[in-house]
Amino acid sequence: MWLFCYNTRMRLDKLLANSGYGTRSEVKELLRQGRVCLRGETVRDPGLSVTEEMGSEITLDGQPIIASEFLYFCLNKPDGYLTAMSDDRLPCVGDLLPPNLKTKKISPVGRLDYHTTGVLLLTNDGDLSHRLTSPKWHREKAYLVTYSGDELTDKERVLFESGMTLMEKGHAPEKLKPARLEILPDHQCRLILTEGKTHQVKRMIAATGRSVEALHRERIGTLALKEGQMPGEMYALSEEDIRLLKEEN
Ligand code: URA
Repeated sequence: MWLFCYNTRMRLDKLLANSGYGTRSEVKELLRQGRVCLRGETVRDPGLSVTEEMGSEITLDGQPIIASEFLYFCLNKPDGYLTAMSDDRLPCVGDLLPPNLKTKKISPVGRLDYHTTGVLLLTNDGDLSHRLTSPKWHREKAYLVTYSGDELTDKERVLFESGMTLMEKGHAPEKLKPARLEILPDHQCRLILTEGKTHQVKRMIAATGRSVEALHRERIGTLALKEGQMPGEMYALSEEDIRLLKEEN
């Protein structure tokens, strides 16, 4: 499910270059080598005029191209991955991108801890990324938490809902926005935040004398995993998904 955002005609070499397949001269070389096909026919003319509809029928080395400048993916982040595009020592979410996306300057929006799983938005749309990570963005982020210690009670629900203040040794007190707590059976709860301070869930749970054993982000605003989406799998957002994310605040 890839996105094709071009509504106007443009030269084939420009479309390929904009979509991250190389510089204008590199994509001309790809065309010269006969590696690009339109509807199964080799195309060598860099000036060929293409439209959005044709974009979905263009292949490079037999693989459909992704003809869009801005790309948006929802990854189910696996446990044991850094929220980073590359790292010398540890696995990171950048390793999960297919090779043809590696040149597209995609990066994660915000971060999940190494052991946190679930919804992680990846994009090369810097404006959207900036907006979604700004403290002015107040949409909900829902986390499923497995914790150890005594079962949470209404006391903690009221505490979180009142907008608690984190009082951590060596740190200035930090006032949090009201958060919703749904207490679930078996040492699980759902915590719904409208801000994203560093390690916020773990710090809130720690402030109640409990500790987080597992953490899974279920959604960011309306963006959630697809049914059956396994850790490490990602899907390209639909135009509607993107519209909703851009609209939300
Ligand atoms: N809060 C945390 O403590 N960790 C995460 O990964 C996300 C939210």
